[in-house]
Amino acid sequence: MAAGKEHKIAVVMGDGIGKEVVPEGMKVLDVAGERFGYRMSWTEFPWSCEHYHKTGVMMPEDGLETLKKFEAVFLGAVGYPGVPDHVSLWGLLVPIRRGFQQYANVRPVKTMEGMESPLRRIEGGKIDILVVRENTEGEYSNVGGRMFGGTEHEFVVQESVFTRRGVRNIMKYAFEEARKRKKHVTSVTKSNGICITMPYWDELFREISKEYPDIRTDQYHVDSLCATLVAHPERFDVIVASNLFGDIVSDLCPALAGSLGIAPSASLNPERAFPSTFEPVHGSAPDIYGKNIANPIAQILTGAMMIEHLGYPEAARMIEKAVEIVVAERKVLPRDLGGDATTQQMGKAIAGLVATL
Ligand code: NAI
Ligand code: MG
Repeated sequence: MAAGKEHKIAVVMGDGIGKEVVPEGMKVLDVAGERFGYRMSWTEFPWSCEHYHKTGVMMPEDGLETLKKFEAVFLGAVGYPGVPDHVSLWGLLVPIRRGFQQYANVRPVKTMEGMESPLRRIEGGKIDILVVRENTEGEYSNVGGRMFGGTEHEFVVQESVFTRRGVRNIMKYAFEEARKRKKHVTSVTKSNGICITMPYWDELFREISKEYPDIRTDQYHVDSLCATLVAHPERFDVIVASNLFGDIVSDLCPALAGSLGIAPSASLNPERAFPSTFEPVHGSAPDIYGKNIANPIAQILTGAMMIEHLGYPEAARMIEKAVEIVVAERKVLPRDLGGDATTQQMGKAIAGLVATL
C-alpha cells in the first residue's frame, strides 16, 4: 500500500442528501488512493441551512480565507425547506464561485450500458455531452434593486452582466475541451429576445471560433436547443452557455440520459490561482432525504473529476469504469435507476470494484 502524497480537501456536505452521498464519494476516493498512491486529508465544515438556523449565516465571514488553504472543495448540495433558496445559494455557493473565480462550471453527461433513457432508441454511450456553463456573471448578477416598494409604482430591476473577459474565458475553456473530444462546440443564446447581451455573446463566439479553425461550431437559441436535445441528443458534443441557460440545460441533459442522480459537476478556476469546487449537478433532494435511497453515483463521479484535477487521471478512469460496470450488471442499482439498493450499498459496490478491478 503506497503512503502517497497527501491532498488537503475541504468537505462541505451541506444539506439533505448531500449528507448521504458525500461520505460514499469520500469512501471511493480513499479506496482509489490506496491503489494510485495518494492520501486524502479531509476537513469537514458544517456550513449548510442547518448552520444558518443556528448561527444566522450559511458560512462564517472568513469562510473563503479558511477554504483558500485547501487544494479543493468537495461539496454535496445546499438548500432546505425553511431557508429561502436565494439565501442558501448566495450565502455559500455564489461567494465561493465568485471569490475563487471558478468561472468554468463543467458538467459531463453520458448514458451508460444498463441505464434506461426515457427517450426511445437511446443506448449506452449515445449521449455524451459536456455542458460548459459560465459560473460567475451573466444573468446571476446582484446588480439591480427595488424602487417604490409597497406602492402601486413598485418596480424591480436585475441587470445581466456580460464582460469580455468572462465570456472569452468560458468560450476558450469550451473550445479547449472540445479539442480533447469530438471537436464540436454548440453555443446557446436567446439573441432574438434578449437583444443586447446575447448578440454580444454571439459576436464573441464568432471571434473565438476563428482562433479554433479545427473545431466545428453551431449556434442555437435555448428553446430550440431544448427541443433538439430531446429529438437528437447524439448531435451534441460540448455545449457552452451563459450562467442561466447552462444551469437549465445541465439539468435537462442528465434527465435525458436517465437520471439527475448520475450527473457530476466541477466549478473550476482553470488557472489554479484558487481552489476549485467539486459538487454534483443535483440539489439536496429533500423529497428523498433520510430514506437512504439517494443515488451516490453523481457524487462519486464528481470525486473522479476532483482526483483527475489533482493529477490522477488513471484513478479517475478506474472510478468511472467501476461505476459503468456496476450499472451495466444491474445487480446493485439505486431506485432512480430502477433498483432497490441503498446509498451505502451503491457506495460499497463501487468502492469494492475500485479496490479489485
Ligand atoms: P434536486 O436536484 O434536489 O431534486 C430534483 C429531483 O431529482 C428530486 O425529485 C430528487 O429526488 C431527484 N434527485 C436529485 N438527486 C438525486 C439523487 N442523487 N438520487 C436520486 N434522486 C435524485 O432539485 P430541487 O428539488 O429543485 O431542489 C432541492 C433543494 O436543493 C433546493 O433547496 C435547491 O435550492 C437546492 N439545490 C441546490 C443545488 C446545489 O447545492 N448545487 C443545486 C440544485 C438545487
Ligand atoms: Mg441547477
